[in-house]
Amino acid sequence: MGVNVQPKLIIHGGAGSSLQGKGGVETVRKSLYQVITEVYGLLEKGTTAEDAVIRGCQLLEDDPLFNAGVGSVLQSDGQIRMSAALMNGSLQRFSGVINVSRLKNPIELAKFLQTSPDRILSDYGAAELLRELNIAPFDPLTDRRLYEWIEDRKQDFNRKMANVVAETSDHEAGRGTIGVVALDQNGRIAAGTSTGGKGFERIGRVSDSAMPAGNYATAQAGVSCTGIGEDIIDECLAAKIVIRVGDGLSLRSAFERSFVEANDRQRDLGAIGLDASGAIAWGKTSDVILAAFHNGQTMGDSLEMLPGTQVLVA
Ligand code: GLY
Repeated sequence: MGVNVQPKLIIHGGAGSSLQGKGGVETVRKSLYQVITEVYGLLEKGTTAEDAVIRGCQLLEDDPLFNAGVGSVLQSDGQIRMSAALMNGSLQRFSGVINVSRLKNPIELAKFLQTSPDRILSDYGAAELLRELNIAPFDPLTDRRLYEWIEDRKQDFNRKMANVVAETSDHEAGRGTIGVVALDQNGRIAAGTSTGGKGFERIGRVSDSAMPAGNYATAQAGVSCTGIGEDIIDECLAAKIVIRVGDGLSLRSAFERSFVEANDRQRDLGAIGLDASGAIAWGKTSDVILAAFHNGQTMGDSLEMLPGTQVLVA
């Protein structure tokens, strides 16, 4: 493992249909850059990739613009159930929670579970762990999410899913799975992903976000996905990209090959990632992916990418 590696960071706030207007783009950019600024500053001070990812996920979960933690979308029965995962790449260790309720930061449970013999908990087990850890109950519901759910209920939930993209017009509230992937000064990689799910889903539906399909890291690379969970699971996208890098493909080639396949199968998804050499990549088949990064010199983002399938590297 190297020392004094230039840290790298990429985060996302969802993928989906187009952002509405320039005002929406600027609001999202401001939110993403605030997170990048704080978390990249931690990496420059020597914070581990795992701790940087946890902090980044907390900040994005706390922002009601995005569909994770505060501002999570409601399921078909009007309840919020959230999922989150953390993967330490150098230890190649995954932990996560599935359909947890009444909690501000699901990533904190994933953090605790990193060192637990049982590393992935679902609803009842996660609730029991919350009590054991004395984590104060918290209702992540926002007025906007409740309003959206009531409006969709009037139409019998005939939309495929809640729009996963943060939007800031009067009619559309912010939505979007969040994710963070970091490379630290010691060359360690970690990935974290957190979500309120698709919105309006059947009770018990399991998101990709707490599966290796949606969040995966090794010593060579880390990836966090966003979009329609079923599509991400069918592609096994995060694990596939990371394993391709481990097998010798460049990050760019691993992303490109995986997104050609996803596009051929008409998937609706996006992903962010980085590798141990410091390459950063993001890709999407959907209109937009809300990603931002710090490459050591400058911050950049994906907010004005053209609609359609694309992969970019930094
Ligand atoms: N990708 C988030 C979900 O489908 O639950």
